Amino acid sequence: MNETLKVIDQRRSNRIFSDQPVDQNVKDQIFHAAFRAPTAGNMMLYSIIEAEDQQIKQRLAETCDDQPFIAKAPFVLVFLADYQRWWDYYHLCGAPGRAAELNRLQRQPQVGDFMLACCDALVSAQNAVIAAESLGVQSCYIGDILENYEIHRQIFDLPKYAVPITMLCFGYPKRSSDSYPRVSRFEPEYIASKNRYHRLDENELNSMFAPFEEKMKRKALPANGALNFGQHNYLRKFIAEFSFEMSRSVGEMIKSWQSE
Ligand SMILES: Cc1cc2nc3c(=O)[nH]c(=O)nc-3n(C[C@H](O)[C@H](O)[C@H](O)COP(=O)(O)O)c2cc1C
Repeated sequence: MNETLKVIDQRRSNRIFSDQPVDQNVKDQIFHAAFRAPTAGNMMLYSIIEAEDQQIKQRLAETCDDQPFIAKAPFVLVFLADYQRWWDYYHLCGAPGRAAELNRLQRQPQVGDFMLACCDALVSAQNAVIAAESLGVQSCYIGDILENYEIHRQIFDLPKYAVPITMLCFGYPKRSSDSYPRVSRFEPEYIASKNRYHRLDENELNSMFAPFEEKMKRKALPANGALNFGQHNYLRKFIAEFSFEMSRSVGEMIKSWQSE
């Protein structure tokens, strides 16, 4: 494995950071990597906000499904899908007026633009993760930034076309990184296919989840009443309160983005 592949292979999410701050020059390198990520149409349809203020971090720890480690992370970045910059620039340039003179069909940012900007934000975030890891700075995504859109919009003073898509907590590991679990993945044959989608049949599903079911059998049954791994995941994640809130919040984001 070359050095790049080793960094990718060895990376793991870390939620327990030491008190060591992340120096500005390290932050700059992480930002540089984020900005060098591929971006649709070279438009950089994203923004990055550093949540530097301790009160904001504390609030995010609460609004992102009560995850206290967020408040303790020395470096926190929120990645936003952002069409506002381009929309404002189009208007500054008189683009809609010119399009009207040319009798062109017009529109405002729509759900396709939203999705493309989400892709941009995530691609940039992952570059930041890998760059950080290569510098000894570990990270953890916070998907729960998708919740409580109205509160986050207020905290960060967001205009209509700038929406939080993901958040990253960064810091140096408190313990040697080898002492954190490197969690396993599903076998590649269940995830990747050639030329067409491969829907897994019952046998394949059972084989894919067998190691997880086995692991669960070796432990006491979970307190949530689940009798197998699928039930456990469904109860713990899919119908958890945060999942309902996330769907509500993302619905509001899209509604706001699409409003006239
Ligand atoms: C989109 C996304 C959202 C995530 N959200 C959270 C989160 O809110 N809290 C958390 O502790 N970990 C979160 N994670 C980290 C995952 O739990 C972690 O990547 C997964 O368990 C695999 O572990 P690994 O990253 O160590 O390989 C998220 C990861 C991704 C990609």
